[in-house]
Amino acid sequence: MNGTVQLHTKRLLLRKVTPEDAAILHRELGCNPEMIRYTCWNPYATSESTRAKVESDIQGYQKEGCYACIIQFGENIIGTIGAYGYDSEMSSIELGYSVFQKYWGQGFAAEAVGEVVRYLIMDEKINRVHAWCHADNTASAKVLVHAGMKKEGLLRQAMRNPDGSYADQKLFGIVREDYVI
Ligand SMILES: CC(C)(COP(=O)(O)OP(=O)(O)OC[C@H]1O[C@@H](n2cnc3c(N)ncnc32)[C@H](O)[C@@H]1OP(=O)(O)O)[C@@H](O)C(=O)NCCC(=O)NCCS
Repeated sequence: MNGTVQLHTKRLLLRKVTPEDAAILHRELGCNPEMIRYTCWNPYATSESTRAKVESDIQGYQKEGCYACIIQFGENIIGTIGAYGYDSEMSSIELGYSVFQKYWGQGFAAEAVGEVVRYLIMDEKINRVHAWCHADNTASAKVLVHAGMKKEGLLRQAMRNPDGSYADQKLFGIVREDYVI
């Protein structure tokens, strides 16, 4: 893998994270409970944890298997997208993404995820890209299907909701031979 490269879509720029992005990531992702309702994971919860996450992404750029980007629409930062856990032996990687709440429902996640899946499979020649979402995260499941992923399974009670209750987790994936331009 070539690591993180800058990508463009019709409306979006996908670019590397910088230290200056930390404040907006903390405010829009870390401080909005709606953003973590279905992810059950919040590395942006405090200013300190946000800075640590941003620094870790930036350090990750030195590793070939790291892909972590800010999604930008014009001058506005509107979300994040990343691919993690690159397995060179299996030629597989996991995808994660978020779009700030004020930009939901405008097709931004579908546009960004579609381009990153294309990049990973066609340019990076990765064989398998996979992702998961909370069973109730309808929007996220639609984004993954739009990108050509197939639902591969359901892990029962594999996640915890913010209130501590269990939730099922849907698994999605796409392999090179599925990919049709
Ligand atoms: C999931 C998320 C990335 C979707 O972002 P988005 O930019 O609003 O998605 P899109 O506009 O591309 O919409 C994709 C589909 O979901 C639908 N959708 C969007 N928001 C929705 C909602 N709140 N409820 C149900 N469907 C929704 C859209 O109508 C669209 O469906 P369509 O293709 O049938 O028209 C965004 O809601 C988010 O960041 N949520 C919090 C973090 C998160 O859950 N990340 C994913 C982790 S698995």
